[in-house]
Amino acid sequence: MKRIYYPEPFRIKSVEPLRILTREEREEKIKAAGYNVFSLAAKDVYIDLLTDSGTGAMSSSQWAGVMVGDESYAGADCYYKVQENAKRIFGLPYIQLVHQGRAAEKVLLPVLLAGKKYAIANMHFDTTRAHVELAGSRAIDCTIPEALDTTAYHPFKGNMDIARLEEHIKELGAENIGVIIMTITNNSAGGQPVSVANIRAARDVAHKYGIKFMIDAARYAENAYFVKQREEEFRSSSIAEIVKAMFEGVDCFTMSAKKDAIVNMGGLIGCRDKEIFELVKQRCISFEGFITYGGMSGRDIEALARGLEEGIDENYLRYRIGQMQYLAARLDEAGIAYQTPVGGHAVFVDAKKLLPHIPYYEFPAQALAIELYREAGIRACDIGSYMLGNDPDTGKQLEADFEFTRLAIPRRVYTQSHLDVIADALINIKERACSVKGYQIVEEPPILRHFTAKLKPIE
Ligand code: F0G
Repeated sequence: MKRIYYPEPFRIKSVEPLRILTREEREEKIKAAGYNVFSLAAKDVYIDLLTDSGTGAMSSSQWAGVMVGDESYAGADCYYKVQENAKRIFGLPYIQLVHQGRAAEKVLLPVLLAGKKYAIANMHFDTTRAHVELAGSRAIDCTIPEALDTTAYHPFKGNMDIARLEEHIKELGAENIGVIIMTITNNSAGGQPVSVANIRAARDVAHKYGIKFMIDAARYAENAYFVKQREEEFRSSSIAEIVKAMFEGVDCFTMSAKKDAIVNMGGLIGCRDKEIFELVKQRCISFEGFITYGGMSGRDIEALARGLEEGIDENYLRYRIGQMQYLAARLDEAGIAYQTPVGGHAVFVDAKKLLPHIPYYEFPAQALAIELYREAGIRACDIGSYMLGNDPDTGKQLEADFEFTRLAIPRRVYTQSHLDVIADALINIKERACSVKGYQIVEEPPILRHFTAKLKPIE
């Protein structure tokens, strides 16, 4: 195997001990958790790949920032710093702090969707979809068909299907569409990047029909790194220049800073239009707090201001994406299928291919997540039929396009040895795959069931 070697551009100054339970203890814990990984205590997990959100390791500079964060109610120093950095990086004139990504959606989306029936996106993340629906509108996904084939190579599988986008606009009526959203990277399709050409094309279609164009910027820096690797025009551009190109002419953005700004809590809204920004500020004061802190403590704002810079450092991004590529290469060697090419924040293992004997209604991706915990104390999660849930009208289990077990890698947290443990665990499971059983739900709430449902293995 060609060794992928993008070593950590940092050394470790502070460590957090991990406990490794025995296999028998893990069996007991997962059973007691009702075979739901969200019900496991974190201390019983060895490698936690549940999410890359808010789970990153801050730098010594960010921790130093925590100590100097200004806790003033209004006009704190860290507020001006985050404003300055965000305006410079994204190039939008108005920036509002909020406490996380979904708070940005809650504040901004009802402004864009007032009196409108639809939002169209390359793919809505769950919380974005929820906030579109809470605003009384419907969320339509418009992903390119290549994204659905996990084995096919496409450099920008996160792209919007531009032809279909325009068809949707014509069918639904431009006046009924409040916003066109580009999620970068496209999380639900596998952390897949979107090209700058595709962002520009979607933006131009939106503007041709007088519709606002918004970016969901959670993983904008990882997206920019892929653009540099794969889009000819940007081969010799800096990451900062690519980010500028991605946000050029964009009307608004929402951002969960818990991802690429490498903080444990935080979010941003960006606007180009002063009128929209005035409404955002008013809503922020009601829902999040006064505009200069937006639901955040000063120390967290200071860490965010510094994290925005660290997140676009090319050496860091090379190591970061290199971790995914290393893990993916080990899976290639073992013939384990995943969404290819590997994305920016996670490896999305194709559980349908690894456990072909388990039908969608017995939740293969959930079964694999449970098996990873049993095998090595690894916590991953299902992005498949188990998460999708039941048809709200008929109550019947829906079949998802994908059955992914997502291995989300926290930023700057795990070493290459941890990645080897993950690969080895999957290889061991593959060897005994036909003995892995499906699951049935024994208790479930009506919505977002995957967080709290209880399951049992089908004997
Ligand atoms: N948009 C995208 C693309 C996301 O991936 C997330 C969160 C959000 C918005 C919401 O941000 O959590 O700060 O409120 N994704 C996490 C995940 C939870 O695990 O993928 P938030």
